[in-house]
Amino acid sequence: MNGNCLVIGDLNVDIIVADLNRPPEKGSEVIAKNHLLDIGGSGGIFSIVLSELGIKTHIISKIGNDTFGDFLIKRLGGHGVEVDKILIRENKNTGVTISLTYAEDKMQISSVEMVKKFNISDIVFEGFENIAHVHFSSYYMMDGLQNDYIRIISTIKKKYSNITFSMDTNDDPSGEWDDKIYETLPHIDVFLINKKEALKITKKNNIDDALEKLSKIVKTIVIKLGEDGYIAKHDGNLYSGGSLNVDFKDSTGAGDNFDAGFIYGFLNNMEPGKSLQIGNICGAKSVEYLGGSGTKEKFNKIHTLIKKIM
Ligand SMILES: Nc1ncnc2c1ncn2[C@@H]1O[C@H](COP(=O)(O)OP(=O)(O)OP(=O)(O)O)[C@@H](O)[C@H]1O
Ligand SMILES: [Mg+2]
Repeated sequence: MNGNCLVIGDLNVDIIVADLNRPPEKGSEVIAKNHLLDIGGSGGIFSIVLSELGIKTHIISKIGNDTFGDFLIKRLGGHGVEVDKILIRENKNTGVTISLTYAEDKMQISSVEMVKKFNISDIVFEGFENIAHVHFSSYYMMDGLQNDYIRIISTIKKKYSNITFSMDTNDDPSGEWDDKIYETLPHIDVFLINKKEALKITKKNNIDDALEKLSKIVKTIVIKLGEDGYIAKHDGNLYSGGSLNVDFKDSTGAGDNFDAGFIYGFLNNMEPGKSLQIGNICGAKSVEYLGGSGTKEKFNKIHTLIKKIM
């Protein structure tokens, strides 16, 4: 294994309220069968999955000195994630996403001001000697970082050699999908997005054209297609695969689980086809459990399935 991973991005708690009898409406109350308090934020979920896969993972983010902040530190540490670079601020609220899931779909409400205000001055560019890879999560959520990704990457490259970079944009809650991201993309080695994000970012009508456009800018593009699996391009070579059969429960964080699986393969110098298979395994097992982190049983299943394809 080739060094540690550093995640720079979003970290919050997820409150998942599941199995609603119907979507909520103004002025009425709906009943859920189940709920869970979990580690959330794309960066938080990615960190714990990559750590459980065996890559030493650090995360830089910002949380409050409150009950949810304590929960995150304890749970991240329990999964082996290095939490010493997390900024903990007095009298500030740790971010929260409330996810309402019912049979056909889900609704999410995020209150993540600390994450949105996180900026380059919050990053101490010291002690990266063992870092081989930096992953940026939730580009569109990180308002304070959007103008500075290139500066962050060049600062790291100036001080440390051979570090690679990946990014997952996730959704753009503003709905603007502006073109500024094209300034950062040439500096990214692995770009991971879902189907909607690929179409919105490229302004193309179909996924093949979107993949083609992005593959001219980034060496490795991975587009996650939910229950349809994935499609990817690396060095101009096309890869695709269907999803695994699952006992579906909740899709929270499936994409972040996929990303962590892919980066695990990437950091172990596996060929892209193998890394994609591992991502697909992690995504599939993620949807079988409520929340993005999952249980010990989930990680045991992932390890068994990875062994089978090696
Ligand atoms: N119903 C499903 N059955 C099997 N695998 C699934 C299913 N849904 C998702 N996956 C797996 O999870 C991966 C990621 O899913 P998806 O395309 O929803 O990512 P995403 O939109 O980035 O997710 P996120 O909500 O975490 O941002 C898929 O590529 C696939 O491997
Ligand atoms: Mg995603």
